[in-house]
Amino acid sequence: MPHQCPTPIRLLILISGRGSNMQAIVQAVRSEGLSAEICAVISNRADAQGLAWAHDQGIATLSLSHRDYESREAFDRALIERIDVLAPDYILLAGFMRVLSPVFVAHFDGRIVNIHPSLLPAFPGLHTHEQALAVGVQWHGCTVHFVTPVLDHGPIIAQGAIPVLAQDTPGALAKRLLPIEHHVYTEVVRWLSERRVSLDTQGRVQVQGVDRRAFT
Ligand code: GAR
Repeated sequence: MPHQCPTPIRLLILISGRGSNMQAIVQAVRSEGLSAEICAVISNRADAQGLAWAHDQGIATLSLSHRDYESREAFDRALIERIDVLAPDYILLAGFMRVLSPVFVAHFDGRIVNIHPSLLPAFPGLHTHEQALAVGVQWHGCTVHFVTPVLDHGPIIAQGAIPVLAQDTPGALAKRLLPIEHHVYTEVVRWLSERRVSLDTQGRVQVQGVDRRAFT
């Protein structure tokens, strides 16, 4: 049975800023006793709020500035080196605002998970809440997915949705979506820790024993 597996999965979390998704994951691992260990939190920005929070929690932290490298690939290779010594099972992107190079994605093939603030495949890229309001969609949301070389693409693990209200602004949407993001991401971490998540022959995600991967 997947949930009886005794070896905790090792998670490495990449952030760039506030780190509220990272905090939700750390708290879920600790308070719900998930079979997972956070091996480190790494930020490409030394002043990321989330990095200080993780440090205060006794989690290993590292900041590695992309500005110190001459190219995206050089930075990603340096990141790979730091991550490899920690031997994580999964790399969780939690507000990591860097496009990853094909080298990085191939190195950790199938082991990188991202949260994106839209119902993919709608609205990849930046300013997703503005994009949603501009188009007039009536439902907006977030997607947790495996990372492939194509930006904000890749097999969908779970999604969370909220209705768009007449008076919504991008800021209001972002604020209302955030708790849903935390819920969806922590559920996915639970499934990963219980080793329920796999890809079917069509490249779609299956989560053993879970019928509904849509949250509202
Ligand atoms: C979250 O809304 C996340 O979905 C988004 O950045 C925010 C980070 O917040 N990620 C992206 O836009 C990635 N393309 P957090 O630092 O408080 O978790």
